[in-house]
Amino acid sequence: MNDLLWWQRGVVYQVYPRSFQDDSGDGLGDLAGITRRLDHLKWLGVDAVWLSPIFRSPMVDHGYDVSDYRDIDPMFGTLADFDRLVARAHGLDLKVILDFVPNHTSDRHPWFQQSRTSRQSPKRDWYLWRDPAPGGGVPNNWISNFGGAAWEWDALSGQYYYHAFHKAQPDVNWRNPEVRREMYDVMRFWFDRGVDGFRIDVLWHFIKDAEFRDNPPNPHWRPGMPPHAAVLQKFSTDQPEMVEIIRELRQVADAYPERVLIGEIYLPIERLVAYYGQDGDGVHLPFNFQLVTLPWDARTIAAAIDRYEAALPAGAWPNWVLGNHDKPRLASRIGPAQARVAAMLLFTLRGTPTIYYGEEIGMHDVEVPAAMRQDPQGRGMPGTGMERDFYRTPMQWSAGARAGFSDADPWLPLADDCTRINVEVQREEPGSLLCLYRDLIRLRRSEAALVGGSFAAVPAENDVLAYFRQAEGQRLLVALNLGPRPAVVACPGIRGTVVLATTPGRGSSKIAAAVPLSAHEGVIVRVEA
Ligand code: GLC
Repeated sequence: MNDLLWWQRGVVYQVYPRSFQDDSGDGLGDLAGITRRLDHLKWLGVDAVWLSPIFRSPMVDHGYDVSDYRDIDPMFGTLADFDRLVARAHGLDLKVILDFVPNHTSDRHPWFQQSRTSRQSPKRDWYLWRDPAPGGGVPNNWISNFGGAAWEWDALSGQYYYHAFHKAQPDVNWRNPEVRREMYDVMRFWFDRGVDGFRIDVLWHFIKDAEFRDNPPNPHWRPGMPPHAAVLQKFSTDQPEMVEIIRELRQVADAYPERVLIGEIYLPIERLVAYYGQDGDGVHLPFNFQLVTLPWDARTIAAAIDRYEAALPAGAWPNWVLGNHDKPRLASRIGPAQARVAAMLLFTLRGTPTIYYGEEIGMHDVEVPAAMRQDPQGRGMPGTGMERDFYRTPMQWSAGARAGFSDADPWLPLADDCTRINVEVQREEPGSLLCLYRDLIRLRRSEAALVGGSFAAVPAENDVLAYFRQAEGQRLLVALNLGPRPAVVACPGIRGTVVLATTPGRGSSKIAAAVPLSAHEGVIVRVEA
């Protein structure tokens, strides 16, 4: 266990800075607020905080549209505030991971402003400009992930530019060596400032087909599904040249001790694992989103775990996550009872777990009135269930005014039940979800089997998921009931003691040959040798 690195041993916690803690009193979260709340992360027991983007931005996509990679947006504070945040975090032994968004910039970024002045601009090739198709119209059939064509007409220079997301987020040209050099320098700028790693936004999007061929239609697409899913992103994403890019990104990180690169990649597992690189020279953690994207069904998840474990290249370190700022919240997807079981799964699987802020208290989606909605994805694709504002509402700290988030009205509404679902209340309540998260993180830290141990599936049926974790002569059995009916996991020959259960009050009961599980119950059993 001692030879593992911090990002292998540790737990990552994602903060959506607009929604974590407002210090300035404008209803929007900020860096000073986050700094003040780092104590919560320490108490919870996590090891690293990942901040969604805090760089200067017109905020069309809430910071995922960067206009200056080397400055903090005034909404969040200043570089001095950032330095204070890092110093405080490091003082608490917490690492700081930033969100790096180099697939696209804001259309207000000086590079794009210069690029669009004329076809002769020295920055023209920094973005993806194309002539209209031979008969007129867009250059090909690529669709924006926020709905509509991915091409925007620029009357001034008589060409289209490509944007995989909002038209205010033009994609840069990662085939251009100057662009790459500049982006690597940005990484060094933050590494030199003490940042411990990056979560890299839409990594699988960086390189596009050199000939910009049409994407093939998706035979499984049906009306009501997001418009961009109507084609398979065969030529607009995941190109072979990514091998070289991830190697270069890694070289930048490897010039510093123990930095981590986490790649945001939504691809089938067999393609996802390619981002570990050849011989581990790619990103350290290609984000494994299976628990976010798959149905909450024991057999589906058991198969997904097996497939992932089998697909991991030698030496690759796994990772798991239950939610993020782009997907409906865990408690809304699977319900509060299963959220407890999911937590036990997250912290007992092999690999680095990531928590999305508020998940530890069971925050759920909040229906935001249409007039208050801000997310460009939700507005671009109404009715497809992709209104991300619902999953980004303010953190619920206490039963006090505005849940302790702000002295002003928050930018998005608070959940009605925030007087009950909040940190202050749950800290005092031994059986709360928050206490379960803390206990699970503690247990994980103290058990070599959970941090670095081997994984072996235990045969189970219907709603039950079961596995062994084993290291240094210690063996733990994890048995989880993903359903509403009692169940039994048969384990002939096994004796042990429950060390932790999702059900409050279960205590350290003895197990012999079979593990009985109540509805929605999970247990971790120390198996006697
Ligand atoms: C990533 C981010 C998402 C953003 C998109 C475009 O998927 O997680 O929030 O809208 O990239 O940058």
